[in-house]
Amino acid sequence: MFSAFVLLGGAMGFLGWSQSRPAAETASCYKPEYTASGDLMLPKNFERWIYVGSPLTPNALNDGKANFPEFHNVYIEPCSYDEYKRTKAFPEGTILFKELQLTQDQEFPDGSRTEPSGRGYFPGKLNGADVTVKDTKRYAESGGWGYYNFNHHEPKATTAKVKARSECAYCHIASAKKDDVWTQFYPRLDD
Ligand code: HEC
Repeated sequence: MFSAFVLLGGAMGFLGWSQSRPAAETASCYKPEYTASGDLMLPKNFERWIYVGSPLTPNALNDGKANFPEFHNVYIEPCSYDEYKRTKAFPEGTILFKELQLTQDQEFPDGSRTEPSGRGYFPGKLNGADVTVKDTKRYAESGGWGYYNFNHHEPKATTAKVKARSECAYCHIASAKKDDVWTQFYPRLDD
């Protein structure tokens, strides 16, 4: 019994298991997954990714129909984030996930309301998602990124078709700060 214990302990030490972190702490890498017909599958576990920012375009400030209502909570796939911090460039396979979230019901015409913390906009129901994927070969026609919409309502679609350059990419290409990503709004990526 004792020797078996020593042996096991020795084997674990030899394999480096004693130094490995518990699985829950280890960021798992996720690469884009496609259906047989080439549609993008809704990325798995995006809510565990690295959160980079929340642009806000309330419907009430956009004639009741913002293009992307209302909070845009943006996440980046964790391994791509690590690579980006190391190299200052988005690696192939980077996924940015923008989850939309409605605001709580408005009390004022500008869409705002009052809560104990003050007057402002407060996150409410989730409302679909938009996704970009970097793949300079696959998406050469749209600047090296693929653009996808997974509904602007819940539940999110499980797959999505790539959007034409004239629908999404043109605007990112024209005005986003770095490699068609709006890093000017995400301090964690703006370096
Ligand atoms: C007219 C300009 C414009 C168009 C068209 C546009 N976007 Fe964007 N997009 C933005 C801006 C500005 C941001 C950052 C600020 C924000 O979210 O309001 C952004 C942010 C994003 C982000 C977060 C990552 C990043 O690059 O900052 C994703 C994902 C995204 N857009 C997907 C799409 C998809 C999918 C489409 C087409 C269905 C699209 N966008 C069309 C202007 C545009």
